[in-house]
Amino acid sequence: MQKQVDYTDAVKTKYPEQVVIAIAKDRNGKANPITLGWTMIVSGNPPMMAVAVAKTHYSVEAIEHSRCFTIAFPSSEMADAALFFGSKSGRDTDKLAEFECETAAASEIDSVLLADAVANFECNLESQMLTGDHVVYVGEVVACHVNAEPRKRLYTVGPGHKLGSV
Ligand SMILES: Cc1cc2nc3c(=O)[nH]c(=O)nc-3n(C[C@H](O)[C@H](O)[C@H](O)COP(=O)(O)O)c2cc1C
Repeated sequence: MQKQVDYTDAVKTKYPEQVVIAIAKDRNGKANPITLGWTMIVSGNPPMMAVAVAKTHYSVEAIEHSRCFTIAFPSSEMADAALFFGSKSGRDTDKLAEFECETAAASEIDSVLLADAVANFECNLESQMLTGDHVVYVGEVVACHVNAEPRKRLYTVGPGHKLGSV
């Protein structure tokens, strides 16, 4: 049996939700990481992934400037980094300078990888679509990297950006 409720109550049932960190360089060459829960695989051949970024976020400028981005699947040990990257804006913060987090250069695009992530995907911006208060960016995956050590993925496990593993 189903009971009708408003959207805010119904959408609370979505957890656990995967978390990713997308990184794009801005016009000054600063790599800007953003934590995102709204993300999905949108094509298998060619491989494509999408992220939804709020119109007001600095990442919109960075992604639209560089037209490429990496998507990192953070490991469960990266909760503090995900909260930092997901609470500061690149407009007034150099997040990767302020929060110690090992990076490596991407191989096919002008962006960076997160060394402790479970996996990193290098994407060229393929298309974008305005969806209400967010912009959905679709990237074609042009290179992939996985951690040599087994790692558990990070998830949002409850409302209020409560992060953990499942
Ligand atoms: C767990 C978590 C999930 C988030 N998911 C999203 C998301 O899907 N889309 C989005 O636009 N912002 C999301 N945010 C908020 C942004 O990461 C945050 O506002 C960030 O500071 C924006 O950075 P920027 O201004 O440098 O782009 C999330 C934050 C956290 C902590």
